[in-house]
Amino acid sequence: MKASAIAHANIALVKYWGKRNKEVMLPQNGSISMTTNDFHAHTTVEFDPSLQEDILIVNDKEFPKGMEEYDDYVGKFLTVARQLSGKDLKAKIVSKNNFPTAAGLASSAAGFAALATAVNGALGMGLDQKGLSMLARRGSGSATRSIHGGFVEWLRGENEDGSDCFAQQIAPPEHWPEFRMITCITSTKAKKVKSRAGMSQTLKTSPMYKAWLETVNQNLETVRKGILEKNFSLVGSTAEENCIKMHATMLTTKPSIVYWNAGTIELIHAIHNWRDEGLEAYFTIDAGPQVKIICLEKDAEEIVRRVKEFPAIEDVRVVKPGPDARLTEEHLF
Ligand code: PMV
Repeated sequence: MKASAIAHANIALVKYWGKRNKEVMLPQNGSISMTTNDFHAHTTVEFDPSLQEDILIVNDKEFPKGMEEYDDYVGKFLTVARQLSGKDLKAKIVSKNNFPTAAGLASSAAGFAALATAVNGALGMGLDQKGLSMLARRGSGSATRSIHGGFVEWLRGENEDGSDCFAQQIAPPEHWPEFRMITCITSTKAKKVKSRAGMSQTLKTSPMYKAWLETVNQNLETVRKGILEKNFSLVGSTAEENCIKMHATMLTTKPSIVYWNAGTIELIHAIHNWRDEGLEAYFTIDAGPQVKIICLEKDAEEIVRRVKEFPAIEDVRVVKPGPDARLTEEHLF
């Protein structure tokens, strides 16, 4: 009853922001992302009848019961996995990320996609990718997309039980290998407002949220089409527009949520200027200060060179479309 899995973080081109059902983790709107080839979570889980309590160790740090990471995230997820599998056993989970946790780099997406894949293997649940994406969703919404590689859409669904709410691949990584995202780390500190709390507050208090929901389906359609046709300008410009709209709902929430720092703003201006000069790059930003620059392979080197000139940027990593979540024989304990 032990298995290990690796899953990669994804970066949304059309964002998920807001739940319509917190219990079953159903989104207000559909979303589209690219699964990365680099940032990953590697997780080992073992269900063990001799354990009295679950053990959770992430990046060498233990998160016992009573801590938010356990109670609100992994503990709830394990309850769902136990119900689904019919096996009421405690688990030891050890997970490692190769990127900063909780700083707007979708660490929870990679983490829960890896955990769902490992739990499925350890408990012999026999879930296919659709089932896995639905299980991963119960840990963190965006994790539902990290089950698949390449370009992925998380379908909003209509049913209140979540039975039509899962992720499916739009195109595999080989479809558009020239697509790049340059992640510019402007701070490695954990963010003050987790996305879960941020989206719930936005839904309740932002007057802009209605406009977000009214326009997101159009963005989904455009980005889906742009990916299939490999129309870079269409995908990049729509992703940037969608990101700004999401941040507009955050900024207008009471109290206002500002995830950006000075480095974030500096890069936004720079990217706009580069575009005016003919260097085609767009940005997207999640619930954190990091800027992900969307570009094509041919321009990536020049953009990295320019980004490195900014003193505020702590680290730059170039990613491209990456693989599905998968089991591995490499156990962490
Ligand atoms: O699944 P969560 O709770 O990590 O929320 C993710 C929210 C965004 O990253 C801002 C958008 C997205 O679709 O990934």
